[in-house]
Amino acid sequence: MKEREKFSSRLGFILISAGCAIGLGNVWRFPYITGQYGGAAFVLIYLLFLLILGLPIMVMEFSVGRASQLSAARSFHALEPKGSKWHLYSYGAMLGNYLLMAFYTTVGGWMIAYVYKMAKGEFVGVDPTYITDSFSVMLSNPVYMGICMVVTVLICFGVCSFGLRNGVEKINKIMMVCLLGIMIVLVFRSLTLEGAGEGLNFYLRPDFSKLFDAPGGLFESVFAAMGQAFFTLSLGIGALAIFGSYIGKERSLTGEAISITVLDTFVALMSGLIIFPACSAFGIQADSGPNLLYVTLPNIFNKMAGGRIWGTLFFIFMAAAAFSTIIAVFENIISFGMDLWGWSRKKTIIFNLFFVLLISIPCILGFNLWSGFQIPHVGNIQDLEDFLVSNNLLPLGSMVYLIFCTSRYGWGWKNFIAEADAGEGLKFPKQLRVYFTWILPAIVFFIFIMGYIQKFGAN
Ligand code: ALA
Repeated sequence: MKEREKFSSRLGFILISAGCAIGLGNVWRFPYITGQYGGAAFVLIYLLFLLILGLPIMVMEFSVGRASQLSAARSFHALEPKGSKWHLYSYGAMLGNYLLMAFYTTVGGWMIAYVYKMAKGEFVGVDPTYITDSFSVMLSNPVYMGICMVVTVLICFGVCSFGLRNGVEKINKIMMVCLLGIMIVLVFRSLTLEGAGEGLNFYLRPDFSKLFDAPGGLFESVFAAMGQAFFTLSLGIGALAIFGSYIGKERSLTGEAISITVLDTFVALMSGLIIFPACSAFGIQADSGPNLLYVTLPNIFNKMAGGRIWGTLFFIFMAAAAFSTIIAVFENIISFGMDLWGWSRKKTIIFNLFFVLLISIPCILGFNLWSGFQIPHVGNIQDLEDFLVSNNLLPLGSMVYLIFCTSRYGWGWKNFIAEADAGEGLKFPKQLRVYFTWILPAIVFFIFIMGYIQKFGAN
C-alpha cells in the first residue's frame, strides 16, 4: 500500500485542524447567533457544550482517523467489526462535507467581495441606506456572487493542488498567523472606542431570561448553542478525522484536541470582542442576524477614523478564517476520492472542482432567482443547507462517532482508548466512561428532539 502523506510538524497538524475549525462559524455565525439569542448567557451554554461534548468527540474523530489512516470515506470499513454496517455512515460524512461547502463557498465569496469593496473605499462617506442596499444588490445578482464563489473555489483547490505539506499545511500556517495578528489589533481598536462598554455588557454579563426570548423558547436557544458547538469544531462529518490520519503516534490525542479547541474558542470569543463593543459604540443593533457583518459593520467602519483600513483588515481577517476552513474541508473531500477509488490527487481535484462549483449554485440562486423557495421556520436554500448540516448531520454524525467508539458493537472503548492515549501527553478521562457511553448521547438526543419540537412547533 502506498504510504500516506504526513504533516511536516506537530504545529502543522494543530494549525490545520484549528484552521478547519476556525471559520465562518467563529467570525460570522458565532457573533450573529449570540446577538440573536441574547448575549452572554448563550455564550456560557455554548462554552459548556464545547467542553462536555465537543472536546471528547474531537478526540474520538482523531482516533478513528489515526487508527484507520483513512478519511471518513473508508475509516469505518477499516475499523468496524466484521459484518456490521457502520460503514454506511461514510455516505453521511461525505454528504456533510459537500453540503457544508455548498453554502460555505458562497459566503467565502462574499468575503472576497467585501475585502474588495472596503479596499477600494466604496463605502467611504456614503449613508447607511447605501450600505444596506449594497448588500441586497449583491444578493440579487447571481452573476456577481457566482464570480466571487468561483474565485473562492479556484483559490482553495489551487492551494490543495500543491499537496498536503507544500500547499495545505504551508498556506494554512501563514493564514492562521495573519488571522491571529489582525484579530488582536482589531480587538484593541474596538475595545478602545467610546461607548464600547454597553456592548461588552451585553456580551459578557449573562442575563438568563434572554434565553427564553427566542420564538421557540429555551430549547431553541439551547439547540442553537449545541448546533454552534458542533459547527465551530466541524464535528461529526469526519472533517477533522482526516487530519488524524496524517499524524504519527508520538502525541496522545486529548492534549492535541484541547489545543485546537482552545484556539478555536479564543478566535470566536475575540470576534465577539471586536463586534459587540463596536456595535454599541455606534448605536447599532447586535441582533440583526446573518447580515450583521455586511450591513452593520461597514456602517461602523464608515464612522471610524481610518475606517477604510480597519474595514479592509477586518474582512481580510474574515476571509482568512473562511478560506482556512474551505481548504481543510477540500483536503478532506479530495481524500475521499483518493481513498475510495485510488485516484491521483490531480484527478480528484479536477472532478471535485466541477462538482463543488455545481453544488454551490443553488445557494446563490436562493437569494435571487429561486428566492420563492422558502422552508417554514428555516428559510431560504442557504438556511436550509446550514440547518441540515449544523442541526442535523453534525450532531447525529457526532453520535455515530461517539457510539462507534464506546460500544462493543462498534470499534469499542478499549480500541478507542488505546489509540487516543498512544503517545506522550494528556490522557483521555477513562473514569468518565459511563458519562460518554450513556449520558452524553442522551443529552444530545434529548436536546435534538426538543429543539425540533420547539423550532417547528413555534408560531
Ligand atoms: N468549523 C467551521 C467553522 O467554524 C465549519 O466555520
